[in-house]
Amino acid sequence: MTNDILKILLTKEQIEKRVQELGKELTKKFEGEEPLFIGVLKGSFIFMADLIRNVDLKCSMDFMAVSSYGSGTSSSGAVKINKDLNEDITGRHIVIVEDILDSGVTLNYLCGYLKNRKPASMTLVTLLDKPARRKSPVKADYTGFEVPDEFVVGYGLDYAEKYRNLPFVGVLKPEIYSD
Ligand code: IMP
Ligand code: MG
Repeated sequence: MTNDILKILLTKEQIEKRVQELGKELTKKFEGEEPLFIGVLKGSFIFMADLIRNVDLKCSMDFMAVSSYGSGTSSSGAVKINKDLNEDITGRHIVIVEDILDSGVTLNYLCGYLKNRKPASMTLVTLLDKPARRKSPVKADYTGFEVPDEFVVGYGLDYAEKYRNLPFVGVLKPEIYSD
């Protein structure tokens, strides 16, 4: 699998350090509160797992599954909710945890959808941000790293459901996309 990688953008060590920092910032922000962390499946599952272990709060977790992409590398524009929350978020501080903010279509839709349920506050955390690609007006409150306009995989992010288990974030060799 690692043979398919053209270059590494973020090493395991860089990610680990940044996730620790984000965990500390969120711990400070929500001191005395019990926020609900909402992981957006599937891409955020590794980030979410590492992030919450760096958060020193009595928080809860829930997950949503949405799809905006097919198996390719560009957005279809449509957002579908495949799994909704189990928790009631009314009056609660929610923290949405995403893998990557690309066009912003997914998060823009999701934020509107969740806002309707009247949470006390909504905080957006994304591991990666590709600002060059933004189509919908979404800004993350916390960003791990800005990345260039390249399709990236690893640390939860996939290409055609593969490569999520790479411990780093990297770019695939061009020939992989044409297979
Ligand atoms: P958006 O709606 O365009 O912001 O896309 C959000 C979703 O598309 C992310 O949560 C990812 O699942 C997927 N995505 C966007 N860019 C990439 C990428 O470079 N690699 C892997 N998945 C991506
Ligand atoms: Mg995602």
